[in-house]
Amino acid sequence: MSGPRSFDVDFVREQFPALRDDWALFDNAGGSVVCQQVIGRVTAYLETYGVQLGASYPRSVEAAELVRLGRKAAADLVNADINEVVITGSTTMSAYVLAQALAPSLQPGDNIVVTDIDHEANIGAWRRLESRGVEIREWRHNLDSLTLELDELTPLLDDRTKLLTFSHCPNVTGTIHDAKGIVRVAQDAGAQVCVDGVAFAPHRRVDVRDLGADYYMVSLYKVFGPHQGLLFGKHERLRDAAGQNHYFIGEDEVPYKLQPGNVNHELTASLAGIVDYLETLASHHGLECRSSQEAMTAAFDLIASHESTLVAPLIDYLQRRDDIRIIGRPTSDASARVATVAFELEGKPSTEVVTLLQEHRVAARFGDFYARRGVARMPLAHADGMVRVSMAHYNHPEEVARLLEALDGIR
Ligand SMILES: Cc1ncc(COP(=O)(O)O)c(C=O)c1O
Repeated sequence: MSGPRSFDVDFVREQFPALRDDWALFDNAGGSVVCQQVIGRVTAYLETYGVQLGASYPRSVEAAELVRLGRKAAADLVNADINEVVITGSTTMSAYVLAQALAPSLQPGDNIVVTDIDHEANIGAWRRLESRGVEIREWRHNLDSLTLELDELTPLLDDRTKLLTFSHCPNVTGTIHDAKGIVRVAQDAGAQVCVDGVAFAPHRRVDVRDLGADYYMVSLYKVFGPHQGLLFGKHERLRDAAGQNHYFIGEDEVPYKLQPGNVNHELTASLAGIVDYLETLASHHGLECRSSQEAMTAAFDLIASHESTLVAPLIDYLQRRDDIRIIGRPTSDASARVATVAFELEGKPSTEVVTLLQEHRVAARFGDFYARRGVARMPLAHADGMVRVSMAHYNHPEEVARLLEALDGIR
């Protein structure tokens, strides 16, 4: 492998047509813009195919192969096998389908542990199972550290704990959890584990084999792709889960039995564009990789390192302001957090801060980001929640400088 070039943010931005105006987009945890490798594939699919899959004529067969390759790319993105990945419309839908699929295996008196700091997508779907007699236990984030503490999880686990669900990284605080350690503790106690990787996957390489979780969820529209969700499940877990498709779809037809209806063909075919983009990113930076897996890992190393240089000046600035409180870890250490930073400004409602930033063509967001239960427990100064600035690797250092200048004018 030859040495890398320094990060070429101008090249990166050229891959994203929606970055052509002068707005600084810092709402990437809401959704990323889409790379041209994906857009091109959506257009090509719609222009050339437009037929149903599953028929014997050549165009249907070719279209099916493109959709299969898209599913394969989604699996590769998280280092899974193609038969371990279900493509859905969103993570909310992934969690809903998975909860329905696991429900028949649960008995009254069994329990599920959910957190309070996850996005509601990975809480509500599980809480609904309470109506079947399943006890729901809540692993609450610690109000001092603003994170989940492992020693507060262990008392919640017992021999009736069937599942722990938590996020690899909350979309509010940006804290990277020790997901591997947490998975191990829960599995050693006999529970299955479902990890919401939505706020982690745009920033760091996901490797579900290494992580070992039973289930893992990603929103592909936050990872430079189309509006779809990816639900990973270990093959034996998906095989054992109850089918959610038509009654005549066999129980061993994984993942098809877990799709209530077909996938969106053009968007699924376009998922190959995400992998293409990441490989292009690695090769453009002089990283000669022996495999697609190696290239994606190298691409995410570049992403993590560039994002650290973006987030460091923001964290430093926020810490210097004594009228600002960071909601999360006040560090830019890449092993501790992603470049999603929430804060609140004393004396200025978050709505107002976001509106003032817009005058500088800086797009941020305020609120609770659907992590409503956890945010409701936080002693926040404002009822409208916090300001969240969420960066992606295509953000330019000059955009961060503009953000800081704009913040400096808000007192
Ligand atoms: C951490 C996290 N989990 C889950 C979701 C829900 O994802 P989706 O919009 O794909 O349902 C979001 C959306 O913002 C999120 O940030």
